[in-house]
Amino acid sequence: EGQPQLREVSGIPLQASTVDNWSQIQNFEAKPDDLLICTYPKSGTTWIQEIVDMIEQNGDVEKCQRAIIQHRHPFIEWARPPQPSVLVLCRRFFLVYFKGVEKAKVMPSPRILRTHLPTQLLPLSFWKNNCKFLYVARNAKDCMVSYYHFQRMNKILPDPGTWEEYFETFISGKVAWGSWYDHVKGWWDIKDRYQVLFLFYEDIKRDPKHEIQKVMQFMGKNLDETVLDKIVQETSFEKMKENPMTNRSTVPKSILDQSISPFMRKGTVGDWKNHFTVAQNERFDEIYRQKMEGTSINFFTEL
Ligand code: A3P
Repeated sequence: EGQPQLREVSGIPLQASTVDNWSQIQNFEAKPDDLLICTYPKSGTTWIQEIVDMIEQNGDVEKCQRAIIQHRHPFIEWARPPQPSVLVLCRRFFLVYFKGVEKAKVMPSPRILRTHLPTQLLPLSFWKNNCKFLYVARNAKDCMVSYYHFQRMNKILPDPGTWEEYFETFISGKVAWGSWYDHVKGWWDIKDRYQVLFLFYEDIKRDPKHEIQKVMQFMGKNLDETVLDKIVQETSFEKMKENPMTNRSTVPKSILDQSISPFMRKGTVGDWKNHFTVAQNERFDEIYRQKMEGTSINFFTEL
């Protein structure tokens, strides 16, 4: 037994269970009307998925909850075993416990799928079908902090060790789904060649309505102001922290131990300042410059 180990595919560390399903993932058949939500872990995946679901259901919370039970939320299976849950491609949980690829296959179109895969590992059919990609990026410092706390409480990921140790692990990309730098650069680089809506966690935080409107347009929907306002409200951190469909409270403690750190932890921009020492920050900025040299992408690290 011992510690959960990561295994590499083309140099990208992944959870062993994802690697076990690798050929199935690579051969996944995308459809032209698929919308794929893409993120590096801890960048606001749950948040953007909730936003997309709410838009899809025209802001109807009830319908949204039902749709989540039917199509999205795998953890409901833990709470209520007979519920058939569907989705999702390439998410480690789904592959481990829920055969995400199999379930995505039988999902009605238009499908909303999600993945943490970097561009070079994405199943080719997504490119061939010119699918819509919705990428959400979060600044590396906050992402690192969030991932650290997530690995502390997530019992199927390796123990992160001390903060000092994790700092090096993250920078070297030896975490599940690989290097933050490569992931973000990879998706940023292809964004003008495909149908990509590239969003930033910090922008959604600063002006949620504006960003939600962009998502709505990207999805080809047209919702009126009151519905948009409602979606802003329902997808706030405070609401989502209380919502059992989003706060992972149905996941057993043996998998996510929320007494160590809650899944809906802080939901802020700039928490890195409570973790980075001055020396770490300087080292980080230097390495960041090297790794991100030549890219035009720009992040806010505070609001
Ligand atoms: P923190 O650990 O910094 O709080 P993911 O869903 O990709 O795993 O990302 C999780 C991060 O997004 C966590 O960050 C979580 O709190 C934050 N998050 C989730 N819902 C949010 C919301 N509605 N508003 C702001 N942040 C949110």
